[in-house]
Amino acid sequence: MVPPRTMYFVGDGDYKAVGLEFRRLFTEYGGLKPEHHVLDVGCGIGRMAVPLTGYLTGGGDYHGFDIVKKGVEWCQANITPRHPNFHFLHSDVRNRFYNPDGVYEASSYRFPYDDASFDFVFLTSVFTHMFPADMENYTREIARVLKAGGSSFVTMFLLNEESKRLIEKRSSTQNFVCPLEGCVTTDPTNPEGSLAFEESYVRSMFGRCGLAILEPMHPGSWCGRPEFLSYQDVVIATKA
Ligand SMILES: C[S@@+](CC[C@H](N)C(=O)[O-])C[C@H]1O[C@@H](n2cnc3c(N)ncnc32)[C@H](O)[C@@H]1O
Repeated sequence: MVPPRTMYFVGDGDYKAVGLEFRRLFTEYGGLKPEHHVLDVGCGIGRMAVPLTGYLTGGGDYHGFDIVKKGVEWCQANITPRHPNFHFLHSDVRNRFYNPDGVYEASSYRFPYDDASFDFVFLTSVFTHMFPADMENYTREIARVLKAGGSSFVTMFLLNEESKRLIEKRSSTQNFVCPLEGCVTTDPTNPEGSLAFEESYVRSMFGRCGLAILEPMHPGSWCGRPEFLSYQDVVIATKA
């Protein structure tokens, strides 16, 4: 279950290796269990879903949605027939980088799932492509669809003293030097290609939306740190 290279739009890493890396992080750090009901927001072309098919076998299930139709269609055609507890939906939300003609605004989009229906919600490299108002609405939606005590696992690029110093020293793989309202991009001509947020803003925004961040956060290697958990920063939070 690996899509053809020509269909790939979710980054450069090895499809299988990245999926397996995150399955380990979800279980070791995020508390994912085989019986969990799981939501993958921005599921892309199934990179996280495929390795989870061998894990969510204890009565658990998986729902994923994305705004790129061809990715969702590949997952529906290749994963669901073999694993009927894996479900995929296309959401026609606008994003200048991934779905410029989308109908719905991310800043007001309601996830197509009931309140308190998931134990574990994750977003891998999705908030790295969303503006603050969009991210804030999605964070509120994550809290809405999580059960009490459920966990979210989110990767993003966080700006703090250390990452800003490393960017200034040119040690970072992401050159976040173009400020926009409430965020910073690497490229003002394609802002949603890569976005970073102040860590202090993310902390207060998660709290406002009803998610309590588990300390410590897990800084990533993206800016040239010698010690890290993954490439992007990882934020794990629970619903009170
Ligand atoms: C770098 S890819 C990561 C895909 C997937 N999470 C993975 O790790 O393989 C970013 C994904 O975010 C999705 N995305 C961007 N904006 C979105 C939005 N508003 N709602 C849902 N997905 C979105 C894109 O379509 C794309 O699939």
